[in-house]
Amino acid sequence: MSAAEEIIRASTPLRPRLAFVLGSGLGGMAEELEEPARFPFAALPGFPVSTVSGHAGALTLGMLEGVPVAMVAGRKHFYEAGDAAAMRPVIDCLAALGAEALFLTNAAGSTRAEMGPGSLMMIRDHINFSGRDPLIGLQGDDRFVSMVDAYDPKLRLRLRWWAEEAEIELFEGVYAWFSGPSFETPAEIAAIRMLGADAVGMSTAPETIMARHAGLPVVAVSVITNLAAGMTGAALSHHETKSEAAKAEARFRALIRSFTGSFRDE
Ligand code: HPA
Repeated sequence: MSAAEEIIRASTPLRPRLAFVLGSGLGGMAEELEEPARFPFAALPGFPVSTVSGHAGALTLGMLEGVPVAMVAGRKHFYEAGDAAAMRPVIDCLAALGAEALFLTNAAGSTRAEMGPGSLMMIRDHINFSGRDPLIGLQGDDRFVSMVDAYDPKLRLRLRWWAEEAEIELFEGVYAWFSGPSFETPAEIAAIRMLGADAVGMSTAPETIMARHAGLPVVAVSVITNLAAGMTGAALSHHETKSEAAKAEARFRALIRSFTGSFRDE
């Protein structure tokens, strides 16, 4: 057992069934958990401390809609130190605590004009444009992880069902992972649109790869904070990412609650 897992197990009787990683501007949802046990990343040995504003690093365990969950706010990104596996200790710990599924969320740009700021997009699949893989350097045959249905088909169906139940519009599409931290060029966006990407962002894909390696099923949602580079002529900014994510947060939270509540009676 890792030291972080030991600390968590000794501090709270809660055993999360669902684990969430909250994206830029979305971390406030962790404050809605009931009976919370909060662990700043700095208190958990091996956990990566993020340097991004809008990303206070903490793991909170608590109850949501009657279901024990874990919420991570303040993910570590590849672009912070060039480590695609920066989130491995977090994901391995969530898996070790017994989570049945990992729900990844992020802020993203949209390549589709009809899917504007404030839209919620369930990720069907991703394209890794970073050229990096978080499993590089691992040994053993299980490093050759299948990425077919990496975004779990049953969980996707379930999320779609509970979005409809809550009357929340949910787009679906392909997420392209760019390393960042620079935003994409308009030419890059034109290229990836042709290749089938609907949204673009700087996270999530490496976490999905590591979760699949850990045997954890994944479901993921992008909160669209802007039309991608070159689509409006405007410059992009992290300030816009945070403020637009905050505007979509109420619907985002309602979606998470609806989905989570469906685990209560199972
Ligand atoms: N590109 C990359 N990452 C992002 C964007 C974007 O347009 N918006 C929010 N995160």
